[in-house]
Amino acid sequence: MFNKHGRLATITGLGIGLPDTVLTNHDLEKMIDTSDEWIRERTGIRERRIAGPQQATSDMAAVAAKMAMEQAGVEPGEIDMIILCTVTPDRFVPMGASNLQEKINATRAAAFDLNAACSGFLYGMAVAQGLIFSGRYQKILLVGGETLSRIINYQDRNTGILFGDGAGAAVVVPSDDEHGLLAYDLGCDGSGGDLLQVPAGGSRIPATRESVEQGLHFVQMRGNEIFKLAVRAMVRSVDQSLADAGLTREDIDWVVPHQANQRIIEAASSRLGVGRDKVIINIDRYGNTAAASIPIALYETAQRGLLKEGDIVALTGFGAGLTWGSAIIRWGRLGE
Ligand code: UT7
Repeated sequence: MFNKHGRLATITGLGIGLPDTVLTNHDLEKMIDTSDEWIRERTGIRERRIAGPQQATSDMAAVAAKMAMEQAGVEPGEIDMIILCTVTPDRFVPMGASNLQEKINATRAAAFDLNAACSGFLYGMAVAQGLIFSGRYQKILLVGGETLSRIINYQDRNTGILFGDGAGAAVVVPSDDEHGLLAYDLGCDGSGGDLLQVPAGGSRIPATRESVEQGLHFVQMRGNEIFKLAVRAMVRSVDQSLADAGLTREDIDWVVPHQANQRIIEAASSRLGVGRDKVIINIDRYGNTAAASIPIALYETAQRGLLKEGDIVALTGFGAGLTWGSAIIRWGRLGE
């Protein structure tokens, strides 16, 4: 279908790349002053995946990307744009997307990283939609990939329990019909940037012996304050994108939220009036994988056969920046 801008963007392939190593709450009990019971009750997490010493973001992203391309029936040489959503690229320079481009041999693709933290995949969907509307790009590989374990201080129980590693990928192409991304909403409030940050390693506080000794290259988070903001912003954002799509809360078939904390997800979905049976939660197995969490959850939802053609799927997330967003998709068909 054409809307006022052009053809809709639709997902035709999904894939995931997860490290094999599992870090359980019981493992963490031996590392920090915490308990399996506290972590489960306060976050819903039981375990998370941790990258091996030789594994970086582009490795997991490449596994996810190959799976997504295979499902979509797209050859690497046909991909014309790669968007890697990440806060943990292999290196600062060059960008992670160029490592990914090389690994999957996507020789025709332009590529760039997108850093919008946990909202990355939502920002990426919006950019993919815009590129498709432009008529210039036809086969976009949109990947969320993170190796958060590299920037987590496993002595800090505020953050050490929460995060995990992994990647999820989607092939996004112009839709032939009315299926695809109907509307999205994105937001940012830089005044909350200090609530979730890695203080050093950038141009403000470059990496020095002192910065490393002080642990300033690790994630610092004021989780409690983020919690309340996240619930409010996600509900507002979903309402906004539903309105833009000409739909209402009752039209939602599935909510696939960023997996930051089970209590955040439950509070937001209950405020939206969406039943627990329509909300996808896999945080118990992966923890918070930032930009990777929505595509991993979307992959698993599709894999379980839950997504039917025509279903209205609401994606939403909130994270460092602060950033937030939502996307309303009329689900189409995976495969060629
Ligand atoms: O990806 C998007 C960005 N991130 C988020 O969305 C994260 C949002 N925030 C959260 O998920 C939660 O705030 C946390 C899971 C990080 C923390 O849960 P909370 O319910 O907000 O706990 P809290 O920080 O208010 O701490 C409550 C108590 C404190 O003890 P006192 O002061 O009441 O005695 C903490 O010291 O729990 C204690 N605590 C812990 N206890 C055992 C904090 N972390 C732990 C822990 N194990 N790991």
